[in-house]
Amino acid sequence: MDLPIAIFLVVLLVFVLTALFGAPYVPSSNKEVKKAFKNLYSLGRKDLLIDLGSGDGKVLKTAHEFGAKSIGIEVNPLLVWISKFRLRKFKDTQVLCRDFYRYNFPAETTVVYVFGDGRDMSRIVRYIERQTTKLDHPIYLVSHAFEAEGHKLIKQYRAYFLYKISPEKKEKK
Ligand SMILES: C[S@@+](CC[C@H](N)C(=O)[O-])C[C@H]1O[C@@H](n2cnc3c(N)ncnc32)[C@H](O)[C@@H]1O
Repeated sequence: MDLPIAIFLVVLLVFVLTALFGAPYVPSSNKEVKKAFKNLYSLGRKDLLIDLGSGDGKVLKTAHEFGAKSIGIEVNPLLVWISKFRLRKFKDTQVLCRDFYRYNFPAETTVVYVFGDGRDMSRIVRYIERQTTKLDHPIYLVSHAFEAEGHKLIKQYRAYFLYKISPEKKEKK
């Protein structure tokens, strides 16, 4: 088999296998993400943004441009490699190669971005609820393309939805 064909097949296999974890790779538009944050949530130096499934790192780059720190969690090692390379000069961004459901948010997390898959949305929302409960403070969620059922929509800009996910109340014994 020719080398270029072998490389193509390996890359294809990585994308097919990692799509089993959740939403396939479809990048957000840089311009639209910027406009979405300007309209929905004022990102700034006070923020730590987590991008669940960070793809090629576009959203992390946008967070940097707003002065925010960010962490991308991405299961596809090729996309992790590409985003680490693209963001190599930014000290305030980090990309981790893993399944985001196995990741615990750092205490400073203020906002989560997700461009998921309709079928996964309720699982993703439950996961964010568990994280806010662990941290015991609310976290803003900017969801692209899918609404978070069971949560009050604060604001919408085109296909971007803003929510505030609060910790679940612990029952008194
Ligand atoms: C629709 S793309 C969005 C990429 C990026 N957030 C953006 O908006 O440009 C979804 C990304 O999530 C990744 N992904 C899906 N399920 C995942 C999981 N359970 N853990 C980590 N990454 C995941 C995919 O590999 C893909 O790159």
